[in-house]
Amino acid sequence: MNSINKNDIKVFRTENSKLDQTDFENLAFGQVFSDHMLTCDFKDGIWQKPIIEPYGPISLMPSAKIFHYGQSIFEGMKAYKDKDGKVFLFRPMENVKRLNKSAKRLAIPELPEDFFMEGLKALLEVEKDWIPEKEGSSLYIRPFVFATGEGFHASPANQYKFIIALAPSGAYFAGKVKVLIEEKYSRSANGGVGYAKAGGNYAGQFYPTQLAKDKGYQQVIWTDDTSHEYIEEAGAMNVFVRIKDTLLTSPTSDRILDGVTRKSVLKIAEDEGIKTEVRKVKVSEIVEAAKNGDLKEMFGAGTAAVISPISGFGFRDEDFELPELENSYAMRIKKRIVDIQTNKAEDPFGWRV
Ligand code: COI
Repeated sequence: MNSINKNDIKVFRTENSKLDQTDFENLAFGQVFSDHMLTCDFKDGIWQKPIIEPYGPISLMPSAKIFHYGQSIFEGMKAYKDKDGKVFLFRPMENVKRLNKSAKRLAIPELPEDFFMEGLKALLEVEKDWIPEKEGSSLYIRPFVFATGEGFHASPANQYKFIIALAPSGAYFAGKVKVLIEEKYSRSANGGVGYAKAGGNYAGQFYPTQLAKDKGYQQVIWTDDTSHEYIEEAGAMNVFVRIKDTLLTSPTSDRILDGVTRKSVLKIAEDEGIKTEVRKVKVSEIVEAAKNGDLKEMFGAGTAAVISPISGFGFRDEDFELPELENSYAMRIKKRIVDIQTNKAEDPFGWRV
């Protein structure tokens, strides 16, 4: 694979910065975008040199294969600023590696790791003023790759574009979420693309999630596609369940995303002396625990929301409320992760970059 260094990345600056017009005190999630983006094309069989240019529309042919065959993958990351203005990323190499795992599954050419890392660092250098300082806010980073090559033949494209766009963002969810355990629709299947961060995995969730919303739930808990007896993910996040004092989560597989927050939660829980079990978790076990009072908490874990507590769940025609806990695992683990991310605490695991 070809390689680059920082000096290879040309910067074309905007003359119309939106920085002054951005309300950093009231940021929603992923609604405003910074002034610049990194773009990089794959053509003639290689990834070309990335450039940094003003954030703006891109031009594509109607026959670009992204529109027809959905070759599209992405990552989600965040940049934080500490009180001295130093900028940090959280476990970025995990994202680089996962992007390439997704690329391989979608028959997209893998991106050299230094294109990603050097490109991201150069972009953040240009855009550091876009990193919010307010607690609970961060600069959401969206790296993505999609097929720009033309053709109606159902085969991989010969041209692609890698972009990194940035969105100063507040919380993903406003509060706790109520979820519906889904038994009809599936998010993924054995041998499928569930473990990849492919755009289509998310598109496929929108309709069943809308049906759940119509019934008063905010998100869906996905179950396995064959028996629907085991929980797998929560909306666009990994899911954790605390029964008595044990924290449970499903093992990653073909069907489940290998979440960076998921593995950070497991590591921190272990460090805090919390008992964890990575194993298949039955819906019936959760329902029974909810009925006899052993179900203490449930939460989703992902980059965007970090940890998102679940207030209750619906299963078939029954609704179950979760108790309000003083010292929830969710809040304890979230604080440790966020303190590491924002340089407020020691980082014994070497996650901060
Ligand atoms: C993330 O948590 O970063 C994700 O990629 C989920 C996305 C739907 C916001």
